Amino acid sequence: MDRVDGRLKVTGGAKYAGEFAVANLAHAVLVQSTIARGRVREMDVRAAERAPGVLAVITYANQPTTARPTNPPSGDSKRLLDPEIVHSGQNIGVVIAETFEEALAASEMIRVVYDTAKSDATFEDRLDTGFAPKTGNRPADSKRGDIEAGLRSGATKVDQIYRTPIEHHNPMEPHATIAMWKGEELLAYDATQGVANSAQNLAEQFHLTPDQVHVIDPFVGGGFGCKGQSWPHTPIAAMAAKVVGRPVKLELTRRQMFTSNGHRPPTRQADTFAADEHGKLVALRHEHHNHTSQRDEFMEPTGSLHSLLYSCPNVLVSHKLVRADVPAPTYQRAPGESSGSFSIETAMDELAWQLGIDPLELRLRNYAEKDEAGNKPWSSKSLRDCYRRGAERFGWSERNPKIGSMTKEGLLVGYGMATASYPANFRAAAAKARMYPDGRVLIQCGTQDLGTGTYTILTQIAADAIGVSPSFVRVEIGDSKLPGAPTSGGSCSAASAGSAVMAAAQALRGRVIGFATADETSPLWNLGPKELDVKEGRISAKADPSRSMTYAEIFARYGKDAVEQTASAQPGMERGPAAAQGSQGGQAGPGGYTMQAFGAQFCEVHIDPELRTVRVARWVGSFAVGKVLNEKTCRSQLHGGIVWGIGMGLLEETIVDPRHGRFLNTNLAEYHVPVNRDIPPIEIILVPEEDKLVSLVGAKGAGEIGITGVAAAIGNAIHHATGKRVRDIPITLDKIL
Ligand code: MOS
Repeated sequence: MDRVDGRLKVTGGAKYAGEFAVANLAHAVLVQSTIARGRVREMDVRAAERAPGVLAVITYANQPTTARPTNPPSGDSKRLLDPEIVHSGQNIGVVIAETFEEALAASEMIRVVYDTAKSDATFEDRLDTGFAPKTGNRPADSKRGDIEAGLRSGATKVDQIYRTPIEHHNPMEPHATIAMWKGEELLAYDATQGVANSAQNLAEQFHLTPDQVHVIDPFVGGGFGCKGQSWPHTPIAAMAAKVVGRPVKLELTRRQMFTSNGHRPPTRQADTFAADEHGKLVALRHEHHNHTSQRDEFMEPTGSLHSLLYSCPNVLVSHKLVRADVPAPTYQRAPGESSGSFSIETAMDELAWQLGIDPLELRLRNYAEKDEAGNKPWSSKSLRDCYRRGAERFGWSERNPKIGSMTKEGLLVGYGMATASYPANFRAAAAKARMYPDGRVLIQCGTQDLGTGTYTILTQIAADAIGVSPSFVRVEIGDSKLPGAPTSGGSCSAASAGSAVMAAAQALRGRVIGFATADETSPLWNLGPKELDVKEGRISAKADPSRSMTYAEIFARYGKDAVEQTASAQPGMERGPAAAQGSQGGQAGPGGYTMQAFGAQFCEVHIDPELRTVRVARWVGSFAVGKVLNEKTCRSQLHGGIVWGIGMGLLEETIVDPRHGRFLNTNLAEYHVPVNRDIPPIEIILVPEEDKLVSLVGAKGAGEIGITGVAAAIGNAIHHATGKRVRDIPITLDKIL
């Protein structure tokens, strides 16, 4: 089924947070620090205040005091506007004017005098200051067996350091908030992956009760993690609206998107793998460091896969943070698995090369039949099928293992592969289903559609459960007043919101049909749910289809206006209580099963033998993600993940100027994301998978797994073509000259 919101999107009818027409709207522009460390001594705002159209200039000196949001991780907003500077691009003021242009012009008239201290935005030279996070997003350290004895027993070893750079999310839609007050009630259109979380943060920030805050966001133009928590600009917009007594719109510029809403932190991953002569892993050690800001403890859990992806008796996985004078890092698509899969899947390729074993065969020899970290069975795992079907489709058996042996039209050809994996998260959600007398259905759920297809799958789930045409179903989401659903992060929304909608829709169907089956004068008298078929709004007895009624007939006969049912879905005990915690979920709950999605990535690269330019020539990704709710949107998610993985492998990197602690390439001209010409034909194989444990709808989520393993597969293909092993991404041509 096509996207139900497709027409709205291509006609411009879909409204994003910054696009709502609000009367009497004023415009705000942020002022951000140009130093990375020190203190604002003085802000001369006199010229700005006198500039045309200016309504107010708010700085640390005159801001109404507000508390820090208490829902961690909360960015770097110790105070909304703070003279104490801990990173370049920190919010120090906001100008509100009649128009955006006037606010922007005035913001540039502010003179700031700083007491500048020496900053350090790097982290690798201070690994000795590394510390274990106290409030990490999810536990990922892991230990089993005897690592030292295991490392000694190996016949061969890979002992290397892998590095990933700072990367940024760059959704097409920048963050935007329109905030307005009506007395003590706050309404905000806010670009967010979690309307409920945004509302909760605003309530805490302004000491309001939950029902005094209303956050609306019907369409999101990509989130990828940077809209997964509430950043300071959202309460700043609300504060500005309060100060000027008018609705205020605050949009981040693309440049501000590099300093104001998190980034993927750089990682240093020291991996030591040991294997016996047959390639069976005997020891695996992973020591991780990433930078975090002076005020947060954001950990990128790169070792999440090291602990469970392969069978290995002796494992030690540890994570540490190093403080730096940088903005707060945050979740970015497959946080942990994307950066971690680069090291583990490159190291496995190195091991295969050293042993002379086919890389795919090596992975099969180390196949994990259970989660050895949690010592639990998988709820389902179809990775062997993913390997097999991907390899067949790709033609992996045609690979000549000799380095540089394959060529095409004068170009070096390399084949590379990697395993993909991401947890199957599920968090509690509620939904309401309501039927009207004509048999039409309204579904309400406080989830959101990041562009992933939430509207579409919820429409399908409800239509299917109730037995009406999808055109009879309307879905309302993206509103904090609707029944609660989790932040759309950790690939959880299809499973979570989908299961809640399914439960509500099933309850509604039962309730409405119940009017007829309880009535001895109706054609459906006394029939149980299993004895009924419902199609296109007509309910009929399986045994005797002539006994039937439509939903509309039931409503007419029993004089009902509208009937509604609310239901919720939550993780069951088979998943374990701990898995419901933390905004990224986690795989190591004490429940009975580990729930994880798997896949396999195969790619071919073409490399100019002299210029060393790399082009990805084709891609086959094969995935088992539980039940596929909508093939088109599921494929698009996986496809998008691979596209971003190609960016991660070859292009993307935020560069720090070490002298000033400043990000240098804060724009899309200098921060390179893939364009169409960089992207080869991508083939997605959806491996059928049945999993009755993972969620009511049977889905594992598909938003993040697609990017995992991609950078490693490219690096492995480059090694196959050139013999050059690159252990730090992006793999730019200077690294393979
Ligand atoms: Mo995604 S990085 O879990 O929003």
